[in-house]
Amino acid sequence: MTEPAAEGRAAWAVRSATAVDRDSILRLVEAAFTGPDHDAADEVAIVAETWSLGKAIEDLELVAEGNGSIVGHVLGARGDVGGDAVLAIAPLAVAPAHQHQGVGSALMTELLSRADRQGWPAAVLLGSPAYYRRFGFEPAGPLGLVYEPVGPDSPYFQVRRLSSFPHAPRGVVRYCWETAEG
Ligand SMILES: CC(C)(COP(=O)(O)OP(=O)(O)OC[C@H]1O[C@@H](n2cnc3c(N)ncnc32)[C@H](O)[C@@H]1OP(=O)(O)O)[C@@H](O)C(=O)NCCC(=O)NCCS
Repeated sequence: MTEPAAEGRAAWAVRSATAVDRDSILRLVEAAFTGPDHDAADEVAIVAETWSLGKAIEDLELVAEGNGSIVGHVLGARGDVGGDAVLAIAPLAVAPAHQHQGVGSALMTELLSRADRQGWPAAVLLGSPAYYRRFGFEPAGPLGLVYEPVGPDSPYFQVRRLSSFPHAPRGVVRYCWETAEG
């Protein structure tokens, strides 16, 4: 378990997700992504499909739990790059009532640390550069990793270099639900 700093300690902690958490995770993802002009169906489908394909990576699906409730979730799965792998993160979600309290940062920081220890060369995601640059993410296109739906020039498809990044594959990235074999 990774706990927030003692000073200003929040009543939640980060741990690996388990199958028991799944209903709570789906409710959380739906609540986090539902907005006036967005219905969260895509993000809920990404989580459900990653699970049904069995592609969540052991110890790289994390939840933040406080007082018996799941208040945050992040999911790491295998992203395919021409037969080689990078860690593909989707989605990161924090319950609306718990946003702006460091939950998202704790989940992402722990995920990147674990991914590095597991030997993944890079982590990729599609998201706001304004949020993710604080974790060391940078545009992926200039580093040779391309997500075709947004193209090589999009600032939204980002990569976080990990220790073995010099050995990372380069090319078109596909999420697990986009590859023919899953
Ligand atoms: C984005 C999200 C995961 C951040 O989690 P969080 O726990 O609220 O984030 P943290 O507390 O670690 O960091 C908060 C800071 O992130 C920044 N931030 C949050 N969302 C942001 C966004 N979409 N774009 C840019 N910056 C953002 C703000 O600067 C915020 O600082 P503030 O508290 O001074 O306003 C969470 O707000 C969420 O689940 N949002 C809905 C779903 C979503 O958009 N997921 C990610 C898609 S890119």
